[in-house]
Amino acid sequence: MKDTTVPFDPDHVRGLLGTLELPDDEQERLFEIMGILGGLADHPELVADFPEFPTLRDVFIDACAGDDPEVLEERFLELYAHLHMHEAPYTRGERQRVDASGGYWAHAGGLSPILKAGSWIHPSTRSVDLGAGNGLQGLLMQCLYPHHRCVQVEISGVMTEIGRRLQQRLEIPNDRVEWRVDDVLETPLGGWGFVYLYRPVRPVGPGRRFYEKLSAALSLEPGEVVIFSIADCLKDFLPASFNCFHTDGHLTCYRKPANP
Ligand SMILES: C[S@@+](CC[C@H](N)C(=O)[O-])C[C@H]1O[C@@H](n2cnc3c(N)ncnc32)[C@H](O)[C@@H]1O
Repeated sequence: MKDTTVPFDPDHVRGLLGTLELPDDEQERLFEIMGILGGLADHPELVADFPEFPTLRDVFIDACAGDDPEVLEERFLELYAHLHMHEAPYTRGERQRVDASGGYWAHAGGLSPILKAGSWIHPSTRSVDLGAGNGLQGLLMQCLYPHHRCVQVEISGVMTEIGRRLQQRLEIPNDRVEWRVDDVLETPLGGWGFVYLYRPVRPVGPGRRFYEKLSAALSLEPGEVVIFSIADCLKDFLPASFNCFHTDGHLTCYRKPANP
């Protein structure tokens, strides 16, 4: 994994983050993510994929030396959003498939699921992001919480290729990430202990069948399953064995203990 020598004064930045009223562990995870993304070099491949990266990174590093925590947070979110990519380069065929399956475009799930996932991802965990975009969410979870494998399922081939290159820049070993260019409506579901998703499809028509199949597959998992769901629509599909332990209007989390 990437060496996390931070490109800013750690005590000063920790002091600024301390005013944001995050729980201590999440504040430290945010500090680590800032170090990871702020510490990325201007590799030509990275700049080709993310042309505004050098500027946004430098502006962020400047904010790290300033005295305004909100400016620091805003500059960092701009950097994160650029690397996440709002404008996904879909082919015409992929666009047709996303439209046909009632899919959602590449909106960012944000930092909060990444900051909160640490208690639920263990070294042996197989995690998945269903509708991963370029996989930034899962890649950052691999950086913060190294685990057996992160499966990234995404309909866009170009986004997946960009994600593979990002994985190289983040120095995440190849065997830690499985890239699957596939439709969530068709891909085999199951085998995961940590599931992250941001509504890849709408819960109607074929999308409804996806949430039914996913819920059935996860309820049969022998071990513990934790689901982090953004803009959640799973609650109508999950059986009673799943307990909702967090919801804040953006992120909803469920847990099923190991089956008896
Ligand atoms: C709202 S974005 C979420 C991106 C990322 N998981 C996150 O939380 O930041 C939804 C993603 O699902 C992908 N998607 C849409 N329909 C899909 C489908 N049928 N199969 C696989 N991926 C799909 C989109 O291309 C997009 O990258």
